[in-house]
Amino acid sequence: MPTLKLGAVMANYGENEAQGKFWNDAPGQSWVKHDLVMNLRLGNISDILFDRLKGVSASNALDIGCGTGSTSIKMAETLAQGARVTGIDISEPMLERAREKAADLENVSFVTADAQAFQFEPGKFDAAISRFGVMFFEDPPKAFANLRSAMKPGSQFTFVCWAPYEENEFFSLPLKTVLEFVPSEYELVANAPGPLAFSDKDYLSGILQSSGFSNSSIEVVKTSVDTADTPEEDATLLMQIGFGARAVREAELDQRRTDELYQLFLVNSKARQSDGIIKYAATVYIVTATA
Ligand SMILES: C[S@@+](CC[C@H](N)C(=O)[O-])C[C@H]1O[C@@H](n2cnc3c(N)ncnc32)[C@H](O)[C@@H]1O
Repeated sequence: MPTLKLGAVMANYGENEAQGKFWNDAPGQSWVKHDLVMNLRLGNISDILFDRLKGVSASNALDIGCGTGSTSIKMAETLAQGARVTGIDISEPMLERAREKAADLENVSFVTADAQAFQFEPGKFDAAISRFGVMFFEDPPKAFANLRSAMKPGSQFTFVCWAPYEENEFFSLPLKTVLEFVPSEYELVANAPGPLAFSDKDYLSGILQSSGFSNSSIEVVKTSVDTADTPEEDATLLMQIGFGARAVREAELDQRRTDELYQLFLVNSKARQSDGIIKYAATVYIVTATA
């Protein structure tokens, strides 16, 4: 019987080997392939994040774990003319896509590096943001202290991360489906690097505090991940991105079983569709803190 250790730590790639491999390998490439669709799905959450950024003025902003650069570009559009945005990410395929998208924007640039260990110029940035890009560090207090040192004292860090698994159907529904289909033991390792690493608010607060951030606030926001994709497109995507997809990969199913599982994903997607929109309930934390 296969054992699925979701969220387990497999350290040995400098300071973030497991995540480095993950985001440079098939999962990162899936994000690139589904870039447009994923950005649309995260649209509600982006709107909430940028709404909270309305009062922030900056001349030099940092986007952490920027992926394919959509939020870096949006941040540049949001800030006053002349402001610069730097996106940092550990995934070369995702940054390749980011660089293509920002090719005409001379004020947006990208750095390929592990944000936990990268030697930033101290106090260089007067704002930092992240959409789901800060939950993947092997050593979050060290990473956050490093990020804080890159920020000007008094400047604001604003990011969004996921609340617990049960409140996020985009993760939980596909995973439940896989686990019913492939009888497996699995464990969601609390606080392990991964999408849910900061779903425990006390743990997150402790990291912000121990890394020297002050005035931290964690706002719980209920929203949804929506898509106008067809159920077939949705089921295909969920076989490639997210916890369900990870369980699918780890189960190493043959083609016949993969096709059977896809049919179950399709049933879920059809059941979630109403008026042409497929909707998954989501809860996120909007976090702000002062460097
Ligand atoms: C869930 S994706 C989010 C991407 C992007 N922020 C977005 O919203 O589309 C997480 C991102 O964090 C990046 N990442 C993970 N660990 C990292 C690290 N140690 N340093 C920099 N980036 C990292 C991944 O490569 C990936 O692009």
